[in-house]
Amino acid sequence: MNTSDSDPTGLRVGVLASGAGSNLQAILDSVHGNFGVEIVCVASDKPDAHALVRASKSAVATAVFPLDDYQTRETRDAAMAEHLRELRVDLVVLAGYMQILSADFIAAFFGRIINVHPSLLPKYPGLSAIEQALEAGEAHTGVTVHHVDEGVDTGPVIAQEAIAIAPGESLEALTRRIHQIEHRLLPEVIAQIANDAANG
Ligand code: GAR
Repeated sequence: MNTSDSDPTGLRVGVLASGAGSNLQAILDSVHGNFGVEIVCVASDKPDAHALVRASKSAVATAVFPLDDYQTRETRDAAMAEHLRELRVDLVVLAGYMQILSADFIAAFFGRIINVHPSLLPKYPGLSAIEQALEAGEAHTGVTVHHVDEGVDTGPVIAQEAIAIAPGESLEALTRRIHQIEHRLLPEVIAQIANDAANG
């Protein structure tokens, strides 16, 4: 992994988030400023994403790339890639980023984009993964952190953690437990990537 010119042992991270940003918060609270990790920007497709508020409270730069401001998804993603390149981002973390990235964006950061997803991939990719596992009557579900490729939640798995679904468990209770795992697993993976980068 290439790290920045200014700090050869550091990992400059750009986070993409579309929504509440609880995973972003977990990253800000646990790895930002530790293990050589610096969150250098948070970008969103949604101007009103609460994730942007969380970033600002931690004095992390924000940027918004709404699809309506661009002619196509490709031109939007090109602008976003340029922004991340200017900030010399080493690792792009999708933390509840609910857009499919263009092929050119993936190519620009290939091998340096990770995503957190609330299921045991390859089961239940895409939207409403927790609901789908519950409605299917699964005995287990969990969390996956994976490399991002051009598919929807299809890249190679980096880390996965399973939990048993309790009989009669509500969607709210299961969602809460899934989020607790996400908030630990995603920062752990980022810290591990920083460690690997620092040790060549
Ligand atoms: C998280 O549960 C994350 O796994 C999921 O969106 C939620 C975002 O929550 N991502 C996906 O489903 C991606 N396919 P947050 O905004 O509070 O971090």
